[in-house]
Amino acid sequence: MDLLKVKSISKTYGSGETAVRALKNVSFSVPKGEFVTVVGESGSGKSTLLNMLGALDAPASGKVLIDGNDIFSMKERELTVFRRRNIGFIFQAFNLIPELTVEQNMIFPLLLDYRKPNREYLEELLSVLNLRERRHHLPNQLSGGQQQRVAIGRALITRPALILADEPTGNLDTQNSSEVIALLREASRKYEQTIIMITHNRSIAQTADRVLQVSDGVLTDFGRCRE
Ligand SMILES: Nc1ncnc2c1ncn2[C@@H]1O[C@H](COP(=O)(O)OP(=O)(O)O)[C@@H](O)[C@H]1O
Ligand SMILES: [Mg+2]
Repeated sequence: MDLLKVKSISKTYGSGETAVRALKNVSFSVPKGEFVTVVGESGSGKSTLLNMLGALDAPASGKVLIDGNDIFSMKERELTVFRRRNIGFIFQAFNLIPELTVEQNMIFPLLLDYRKPNREYLEELLSVLNLRERRHHLPNQLSGGQQQRVAIGRALITRPALILADEPTGNLDTQNSSEVIALLREASRKYEQTIIMITHNRSIAQTADRVLQVSDGVLTDFGRCRE
């Protein structure tokens, strides 16, 4: 079953002579549990695409279906709840809340939804993210790699069906990058989560099940890397 269906989405920023056609009739589908990387030059439309998949921005035309739900036909409130329950975002900027500890930052999306964290899963995440000893630390007491791991924990805590990551390893060294990727891959396998990850790093891109390339707003699907 396809977890994600993108049907001919287009996006233009601005109008008239300064208009930028950031996405041109982009269509693709991703089966549940697949790990997809998105590559392409800077300014090619990768972040615009990812923002549309998470309904952080709306396309001029086209549809995005997540688990069969047409996200742009939802009302704002419905969409907010849907997004919180079904999509995990990981950005290059960690966007942690400075006053909250590691653990509090991680469970924050659940609290927003008046849900209690599953202690067992929280412990498991702290463990695989290698943050057990840092659970009561504040973000400014952590290294960049540790902060990014907290942001990943926060994206995973709700066990979202879809994880959207925009250059999540952009601020990390090679060692930390490999660990972060391994972790995401493990999550996607274990919980059958679908991951769409933008990366500049070719060797990281090649570790995915499938690579998509965006070039000047046009998407090319290179197909499955292995069967
Ligand atoms: N909010 C915006 N307003 C105007 N133009 C934008 C905006 N966001 C992105 N763009 C333009 O759209 C194109 C695609 O940008 P983006 O999706 O951020 O590319 P990438 O993530 O691949 O670097 C670029 O030409 C960029 O300048
Ligand atoms: Mg970008």
